[in-house]
Amino acid sequence: MNATLIDGKVFAASIREKVAAHVARLQAEHGLTPGLAVVLVGEDPASQVYVRNKGQQTKEVGMASFEHRLAAETSEADLLALIARLNADPAVHGILVQLPVPDHIDEAKVINAIAPEKDVDGFHISNVGLLATGQKSMVPCTPLGCLLMLRDTLGSLSGLNAVVVGRSNIVGKPMAQLLLKESCTVTVAHSRTRDLAGLCRSADILVAAVGRPQMIPGDWVKPGATVIDVGINRIPAPEKGEGKTRLVGDVDFAGAAEVAGAITPVPGGVGPMTIACLLANTVTACCRANDLPEPEGLTV
Ligand code: GUN
Repeated sequence: MNATLIDGKVFAASIREKVAAHVARLQAEHGLTPGLAVVLVGEDPASQVYVRNKGQQTKEVGMASFEHRLAAETSEADLLALIARLNADPAVHGILVQLPVPDHIDEAKVINAIAPEKDVDGFHISNVGLLATGQKSMVPCTPLGCLLMLRDTLGSLSGLNAVVVGRSNIVGKPMAQLLLKESCTVTVAHSRTRDLAGLCRSADILVAAVGRPQMIPGDWVKPGATVIDVGINRIPAPEKGEGKTRLVGDVDFAGAAEVAGAITPVPGGVGPMTIACLLANTVTACCRANDLPEPEGLTV
């Protein structure tokens, strides 16, 4: 392996430390405790794990965690009523509704019911619009984590060619906006893109966020490029025993690590950064709500 490993676990721990220090200062100097409300509708096992981890880490950095677990049959009206209560609650600075929500609930309606200043996911149309126009907003956690790692690895990103593979609202689109704001030349690729291999080979920064295991081979990577792998895919691992599985990214790590200048592993790359950035967004939201200076280095 030639590439430098971008260690998301270490980086996320340093973000949590900064968040915890800021939380302690808010408490000591202003008597404020940032609070994060997480809402889970239904019993999706993966979502339950995420929600539990979010709650745990929220408490670990000294913030208040409010968990709302609702039955899968909860009506849209009841969910909207809960969001209205959380919007009005001064102890709640951040609100996150875990996605996906059950089919009978309109996801966009729910997201847009969250007060934009409490929308720590950055999914509300106001935050999407603010980010797209280069104004101060809440920035979606996963792309924020990717950007913080890119800045740490490369310093200035100005003028670099960035290719984002994947056009989701959660990662691809906001990632492209953030890279544009950093003065990269940005291309968003997707399933219909022609000559994806050639396009990827032009990338100084390659962000893979498609959710297809190891779809980007090493020979699509430009020598010296920085590769950020957002994919978390579970695949069979017969070498570990019958029925065993392992996690891989959207990039063939072994192949890409021979060519890239720096690369995030899976697991232990982008994954740990997402919750760390959620905590960072919650502190930022608390500071903005109280007209206090925001923590440095945790926002864009
Ligand atoms: N489900 C998968 N990723 C996310 C995320 O970033 N935020 C929320 N709210 N739900 C998700």
